[in-house]
Amino acid sequence: MTQNFTGSFTQQEGIPEEGIAAALEVMRTGRLHRYNVAPGEIGEVGLLEQEFAAAVEAKYCLAVASGGYAIGAALRAVGVAPGDKVLSNAFTLAPVPGAISAIGAEPVFVGVTRALRIDLDDLEAKADQAKVLLLSHMRGHICDMDRLLDICNAAGVTVIEDCAHTMGAKWRGTWSGRHGAIGCYSTQTYKHINSGEGGLLVSDDPDLMARATMLSGSYMLFDRHPAGPPPESYEAIKYETPNVSGRMDHLRAAILRPQLANLQAQADAWNARYRQAEQGLADTPGLTLIERPDAESFVGSSIQFLLEGWSEKGIAEVLKRCGTRGVELKWFGGAEPVAFTSRYDSWRYVPAQSLPETDEILRGIIDMRLPLTISVEDCALIARIIRAEVGAVYQSEAR
Ligand SMILES: Cc1ncc(COP(=O)(O)O)c(C=O)c1O
Repeated sequence: MTQNFTGSFTQQEGIPEEGIAAALEVMRTGRLHRYNVAPGEIGEVGLLEQEFAAAVEAKYCLAVASGGYAIGAALRAVGVAPGDKVLSNAFTLAPVPGAISAIGAEPVFVGVTRALRIDLDDLEAKADQAKVLLLSHMRGHICDMDRLLDICNAAGVTVIEDCAHTMGAKWRGTWSGRHGAIGCYSTQTYKHINSGEGGLLVSDDPDLMARATMLSGSYMLFDRHPAGPPPESYEAIKYETPNVSGRMDHLRAAILRPQLANLQAQADAWNARYRQAEQGLADTPGLTLIERPDAESFVGSSIQFLLEGWSEKGIAEVLKRCGTRGVELKWFGGAEPVAFTSRYDSWRYVPAQSLPETDEILRGIIDMRLPLTISVEDCALIARIIRAEVGAVYQSEAR
């Protein structure tokens, strides 16, 4: 009998009861704004910032309104100005080039490898074109950070890490987001901790953090940042840094704190699902899995594979067949952007750039979310469905 999958690829788990209780408590006080705290009270946002800084071993942390906001503030904090070029991944999602363009700067796209990491040879070749790299650890794949830092340090390029997909991940024992000057994270619903919308930014640099804090809309209340830099860091910049309001509120922070405390257990649960799906797809003719280097401790909240050299018709047929059986796959090679999926040539506010080798890889990238409401057994079923449908279409592809 043909088995179908009946679950949802977009259904996250509920908010832990502890978070719901804390959120209710915030609502009862009526004090939702981050600076609206009682005498001596730190407040949920400040506590979250302290806890996140400790979790990723950073000196400073700032909670903001979204991951995209965190990236924009980071770019401004390191001095990116209108007209500047910023290196970034060709394989990422729209908020990344969007954050660069929003401040009048211009993305210079760096290619992607078959391992779905930024192409470090291409980065090396383009490193003299910009002073900043916005590095997106797209879909949780972390590149060789040692070589990346060698390249960027040699070229005087400041690195901002977009860790929207790597909260809780590490490269060679160091937390993702702690390799560059600033790390940015998202707490939007589909990420590793969920407050609907939200973002976090970390750094060890007091000057960068003072600028980011002023930018986020601190007014002259920057001394109410328990995980922020000392007040003297603000002296030189407090009158000349614009307020671009994007603060987090206590309600979201209250929801996030218990989730952050449980992040490692969640990461383990994601990885159990990822490994099950990966194992089920291994050695499927025509399908290439993505290698995970030993130095990378990842959080497998989604899985990708390549249908390399396939015709568009063949890939579309696989997607259709899997969709009919309840397995929702995303394709980065489609002619038009669909839902969250888009490609660098879809971002037409950026001057056109040509990356033929990247185009070839993007053409075959298939992407699937693994929310924790999908069980390990579900992952085995999903892999069986993909394997069967890829196998069926591959027969006609290979002919
Ligand atoms: C790779 C990547 N970077 C940044 C962001 C921005 O995060 P947010 O939605 O919190 O603005 C996203 C969101 O989907 C993303 O996928």
